[in-house]
Formats: sequence, C-alpha cells, structure tokens
Amino acid sequence: FIDGERGILRYRGYPIEQLAEQANYMEVAYLVVHGELPTKAQYDGWTHNIMQHTMVHENMKKVFDGFHYDAHPMPMLISTLAALSNFYPASRNVRDEAVRMLQIYRLLGKVPTLAAMAYRHTKGLPYVMPDNDLSYVGNFMNMLWRMAECRYTPNPTLEKALDVLFILHADHEQNCSTNTMRIVASSESDPYCAAASAAAALYGPLHGGANEAVLKMLRQIGSKDKVAQFIKDVKERKALLMGFGHRVYKNYDPRAAIVKRAADDVLAKLSGPDPLLDIAKQLEEVALGDDYFIERSLYPNVDFYTGVLYKAMGFPTKAFTVLFALGRLPGWIAQWREMMVD
Ligand code: ACO
Repeated sequence: FIDGERGILRYRGYPIEQLAEQANYMEVAYLVVHGELPTKAQYDGWTHNIMQHTMVHENMKKVFDGFHYDAHPMPMLISTLAALSNFYPASRNVRDEAVRMLQIYRLLGKVPTLAAMAYRHTKGLPYVMPDNDLSYVGNFMNMLWRMAECRYTPNPTLEKALDVLFILHADHEQNCSTNTMRIVASSESDPYCAAASAAAALYGPLHGGANEAVLKMLRQIGSKDKVAQFIKDVKERKALLMGFGHRVYKNYDPRAAIVKRAADDVLAKLSGPDPLLDIAKQLEEVALGDDYFIERSLYPNVDFYTGVLYKAMGFPTKAFTVLFALGRLPGWIAQWREMMVD
C-alpha cells in the first residue's frame, strides 16, 4: 500500500519503518510472498528451503567467463538469470503451485550467488562457494568478499545495513520492473526469464539505475560550493536532479529518510565522513527550499542516499543496481505468484 501524497509505504499492512526496525529481510520476503509474517517454524522452513538452493550449476561459470573483464554486472545478472531457465526446464509448468514454489526458493537462493559471481568477475577474483551456516545476507557478503580466510565472518554493522536496504526495496506496487515481470509472465513465460526482463527494466537510470546516476552526479558536482550552480542548471533544464522525484510519491519518500539515517550510522561506525554525503545533504536542503521543486512536489526518492551508503560499504558504483534487484526480487516473485493464482 502506498499513499504518495502522505509518504506512506506498507507491505501487507505493516509500515515500512516498523519492518526496517524489527524484522529481517527473510521475514519480509516471506511476508510479501505469503501475505503474513511467518511463525518460527514457517520461518525456519522458508530459510532452509531457500538456503538449500544457493549453489548454481558449474556451467554457469562458463557463461560468466564469456563476459569481458569490465562488463557491467547488471547485464551479467540479467543474462545469467535468464540462463537459469535452461537449467530448470520444468519451471515452465507455471500453473502448478508446487513447481512455482520450487522456483521461488531457487530464485531467492541463486540470485545472490549470480550477483556475487558478477561482482567477482569484474574484480578478477575466483568465485566463492555459498556458506549456508551464515544468514542470507551474511552468505551474500561471504560470496562477495571472502579472500583466503578459512571462514568468512560478516561485519555485523554492514550485515544489518544491507539487510535493511533489502527490506526497503522489497516491493513497490506497479512500478516499471514489476509491471514488466507481470507482463512477461502473463504469457506463461517461466519465472527466470520474467525476472530477467524485470531486472532489465530496473537497469534504466529513471528506475533502479538512478542510484548509480546519483553517485555520478555527486562526483560531477564535486563540492558543496558548486551545489547552487547545479540547482540553477537543473532549473534551466540542463540536468536532472537524480534521486529526486517519483511517479507516486509527491512527498518525502519514507524509504529515503531511513536510508539517510543508515548512511549517517554506517559512515560514523566504518568509514568516517564522506564529502559526497555532505553534497547530497546540501542538495536536498537547497532543493527542498526552492520553488521549482516545491511547485512540482519533488522530494528525495529511495535512490538519493543509497549510493552514498553502498559506497561506504565498499561497493563499486556499477554494483548498485544489482543490489536493488536483489532487494526487489521478493516483490517481483510475490506479484508473479499473485497474478498466476488470480
Ligand atoms: N529533476 C528536475 N526536474 C524534475 C525531476 C528531477 N529529478 N523530476 C521531475 N522533474 C520535473 C519535470 O521536468 C517536470 O517539469 P515540468 O512540469 O515543468 O515539465 C515535472 O517535474 C514533472 O515531471 P514528470 O517527469 O512528469 O514526473 P514523473 O512523476 O512522471 O517522473 C521520475 C518521475 C521519472 C522518477 C522523475 O522524477 C525523474 O526522472 N527523476 C530522476 C530520476 C530518478 O531519481 N529516478 C528514480 C525514481 S525511484 C525508483 O524508480 C526506484
């Protein structure tokens, strides 16, 4: 449920602020897909079934090997996500609920593995096996960042921040990528190809690609004293203020407020002050007091602060939209299942 005028977002009746504070991402994924928060037994079964499917076929490595070393991770994720379809041909039987549930576990289990493989490919690093004793997010961090240590131990501050970011992205009504998921799946295409199409829609800079575009914009602005000139350029239509404006929210995006606080927290605990965060805050302050933005009801959206936070966590800019895709996966899945059941 979204009330764009009042800046309210709820998943299945629960306010996003409450979920970000009190739930974890796996609980929220269950909530979005099944409509209710899980009991302890349901939660254990859900995470067990998902973590059972974290490995991918060895041939997937060959698919990754075909990409140039500096390939963008988002098209790599899109291609390999579609490629999963060939490993699971029975997934085409989309009218069977048991088949659908199996693909849901596989999608949630394998997409972090593919995302981590895309990341490691761009770094020239060997792929890392999943560690199913870690949490869902902790295992993702293991597959991204484990080096020569015997066992990877996730940093709890990073693990929590990433978990919250995934919660914030989990679903958002009939947005561009979700619509794409529904449209492609409506022809009874399998969920891997449909999710690959949704990810392709997410890739664009007016949708999920905005988090990458925001960081490029902040770097181009370069310092707080250039903010006034940049806002002037925006008003003269020489540039867009990336991370501002939303088709549904005509008020402060509630997710942006949570990300802004998380960015402050992570920076304070891990990496120290970041001049890009200062530029972002200055941009927000100037824009929110400027008639151009006030008249058009333009406020920060979820992508405005996520880039600064992802950067503080050590992610390269190109990886940002992949993280959005991981977070949004439960939403795409839930909307697909709802459409099929309807
Ligand atoms: N910077 C400057 N001006 C803007 C911006 C912006 N970010 N967004 C909208 N405007 C202006 C438009 O130029 C238009 O002005 P006009 O009426 O004088 O012509 C007016 O505000 C309305 O703009 P629309 O494009 O009609 O607004 P809409 O609600 O359709 O667009 C969108 C929403 C696409 C998100 C837009 O605000 C935008 O391009 N924002 C920047 C990209 C971005 O941050 N995208 C991420 C969205 S969140 C997500 O997908 C996860």
